[in-house]
Amino acid sequence: MASKAELDGIYEQAKGAVESASDLRALDQVRVEFLGKKGRITSVLKTLGQLPADERKLVGQAANEVRRHLEGAISVKQAALSRADVEERLATEAVDITLPGRRVAHGSRHLISQVIKEITGIFIGLGYKVAEGPEVEIDYFNFKALNQPPDHPARSLQDTFYIKKESVHPADDDILLRTHTSPVQIRVMKEQEPPVYIIAPGKAFRRDVPDPSHLPMFHQVEGLAVDEGITFGDLKGTLEAFTKQMFGKKRKIRLRPHFFPFTEPSAEVDVSCAVCDGRGCRLCGSGWLEILGAGMVDPNVLTEVGYDPEKVSGFAFGMGVERIALLMHGVPDLRMFIENDMRFVKQF
Ligand code: PHE
Repeated sequence: MASKAELDGIYEQAKGAVESASDLRALDQVRVEFLGKKGRITSVLKTLGQLPADERKLVGQAANEVRRHLEGAISVKQAALSRADVEERLATEAVDITLPGRRVAHGSRHLISQVIKEITGIFIGLGYKVAEGPEVEIDYFNFKALNQPPDHPARSLQDTFYIKKESVHPADDDILLRTHTSPVQIRVMKEQEPPVYIIAPGKAFRRDVPDPSHLPMFHQVEGLAVDEGITFGDLKGTLEAFTKQMFGKKRKIRLRPHFFPFTEPSAEVDVSCAVCDGRGCRLCGSGWLEILGAGMVDPNVLTEVGYDPEKVSGFAFGMGVERIALLMHGVPDLRMFIENDMRFVKQF
């Protein structure tokens, strides 16, 4: 018949067995012998029903207590044995420290990021500061403040993605993905007084289907200089200094008259082709490659941001990063920049 004395005896034996277990397997045998389904403590519990009620309670409690203690002792011993096992292996197994390690694959900058860094680096060298603006813009910064009222025909050249107003915030203005980095000009000028010399790299978006020369998302680097007495000559000189550093001393630039609502006069700027040295080839056709748009900041824009066009003047330019990367490396299709084919990406 089960009794507390019998349980105490079992406990003593079990404790001894746990202590003398010399490895994890022996310890597990002890666990099965005492705590398993057919183990000795379990057997005691099974016979409780035969005891008178008052004793049944006492012995039952004692059995549960013994089980708990034993479980505790086993897990303590288990931890000690595992530790000993690791220490033993460290002490006896040789580690060949001359084996080459496993290499960690490390990435590199995407070509587009490299080119952005190079462009901004050159302008930082000329004393410009880097500015940034949001990719999700309001119509005011992207168009209106840049001298493009809602019915302006130039807007149709830059159709973009509009965002449902209710889903963002209750602004009175249309919310859109910026079509160029030029809204950063407005944001910066509204924040500070002249002189301003900034460069603003970032993403721009247009409603274009991807093809060899169009991507719906691409990168631009905007430039803006506003100060007293800035002339078109300063613009040309700055762009010349930039192209020589970026593309090499032998490169020339050419300015063609153009129209932008926010600059007057405006120009598109070409660089002489590096492949044929301006003679004309398969890549460039005419010997010249277009790299950016530029012009003198329109007086309407200066007035809009609270500057006095009688006191200050400025120039602005915006260049397409993918285009420049493509020209520098002879990439035949803009889509390669976003396909993430490692055979392409790793070449740069
Ligand atoms: N924002 C113009 C574009 O994306 C480029 C530009 C910038 C032109 C600044 C003039 C001055 O086409």
